[in-house]
Amino acid sequence: MSEDLKIVRGSKEEQYRSLLPQISALLEGEHDQIANMANMCAALKEQFNFFWVGFYMVKGDELVLGPFQGPVACTRIKKGKGVCGSSWAKKQTLIVPDVEEFPGHIACSAASRSEIVIPIVRNERVIGVLDVDSAELDSFDETDASYLTQIIGLIEFNS
Ligand code: SME
Repeated sequence: MSEDLKIVRGSKEEQYRSLLPQISALLEGEHDQIANMANMCAALKEQFNFFWVGFYMVKGDELVLGPFQGPVACTRIKKGKGVCGSSWAKKQTLIVPDVEEFPGHIACSAASRSEIVIPIVRNERVIGVLDVDSAELDSFDETDASYLTQIIGLIEFNS
């Protein structure tokens, strides 16, 4: 595959539509989970310039930081804590238009204003989450939820 990403302008939907097959091609033939998570974050960051995009993976009773793009972040999050821990506990995608309004939000960076967290569910268990943060309010909606869920679905997780 080519290592160059074709960046498109246009609506959010158009951007995701262009990105999805490119991420699929990027992952094709590669079975290493870390490599695929890392490239997925890089591709999302490159297309959307998200403030922070990355994975937290379930290890015991905590989420532990995985591959990401953006500023340094907290390494461990307890189940039920913050947006990520709540998404894990509820097994639900959480869209937070204003992080200051979310009780217990974990501010890894004061610059983060809105957030979407998608649980990664395999065999009915949450094995991790994808967290995307924006420096602007109200950045995420059902379009992000739908495409990010499809994008996560491209990874073959070993655990
Ligand atoms: N804000 C998240 C923590 C992770 S960082 O933002 C990268 C939360 O409340 O779960």
